Amino acid sequence: MAEPLIRLVDLRKSYRVGDVTVHALRGLSLDIEKGSFMSVVGASGSGKSTLMNVLGLLDRPTSGQYYLEGKDVSGFDKDRRAHLRNRRIGFVFQNFNLLPRTSALENVELPLLYGGRSLPAADRHARASGLLEAVGLGSRMDHTPQQLSGGQQQRVAIARALVNEPELLLADEPTGNLDSRTSVEIMEILQRLVRERGITVVLITHEHDIAEYGTRVVTVRDGRVTSDTPVAERRDAAAERAALPPLEPEPAEAGAVQEVSHG
Ligand SMILES: Nc1ncnc2c1ncn2[C@@H]1O[C@H](COP(=O)(O)OP(=O)(O)OP(=O)(O)O)[C@@H](O)[C@H]1O
Ligand SMILES: [Mg+2]
Repeated sequence: MAEPLIRLVDLRKSYRVGDVTVHALRGLSLDIEKGSFMSVVGASGSGKSTLMNVLGLLDRPTSGQYYLEGKDVSGFDKDRRAHLRNRRIGFVFQNFNLLPRTSALENVELPLLYGGRSLPAADRHARASGLLEAVGLGSRMDHTPQQLSGGQQQRVAIARALVNEPELLLADEPTGNLDSRTSVEIMEILQRLVRERGITVVLITHEHDIAEYGTRVVTVRDGRVTSDTPVAERRDAAAERAALPPLEPEPAEAGAVQEVSHG
């Protein structure tokens, strides 16, 4: 098999708070293939955001290795991390983090201004508007965040995360503030990015039905990976459970269920 985009080996991250040491990651190991869509689930406090901060080069592990395309970046200092992050990693957060009173188009263009690449204004504009069109906001480019719905704001945030053409997109609870229908739209956009642009997506979520939009679900508990399952298998297991004969068969209900599964 080809080298994974990311290999994490025995990652540990501890925070010192006063006299107390908090062990947020306790020996986490994981391979992430290029062009895959991995969901991370786990209870509050299990270490998901800590993992995302390390993956996103926002923070450094206390020990362990982080190989990005075979190169150990775990010891990189702040400047080297920032340089790598700006070119290769995009972020999407629960709260969208858009600039208020600034149009969707300018929000998306912004990372191009401080990303280190000096693109002419016309090219910045073309790239940002192309991405807004790709997320279905071609007619909303001049709207400010407060003139957009939550789902539309998150789509602007996704376009912004993509403007530097990252290969890795990290999303921490991107649907946390959205209703379920809008959440599905956002998940379908992420799936399309994986399929059509070969982007690697790591999605953190509390919601198991959202997690299953990925192709693999990793469970984190107490700073370690406790399960790692392809989604197709999870679906099979769920189908098997559903296929078990009911304890007290009721013909009318069985018929209704069958009809649903065929429709
Ligand atoms: N900057 C920090 N300083 C001290 N402790 C921290 C810090 N960040 C996280 N922690 C602690 O590390 C552990 C893991 O936190 P983390 O934010 O990674 O959890 P999480 O899985 O993202 O939780 P949630 O689902 O609530 O977002 C928690 O016990 C938390 O209190
Ligand atoms: Mg978190």
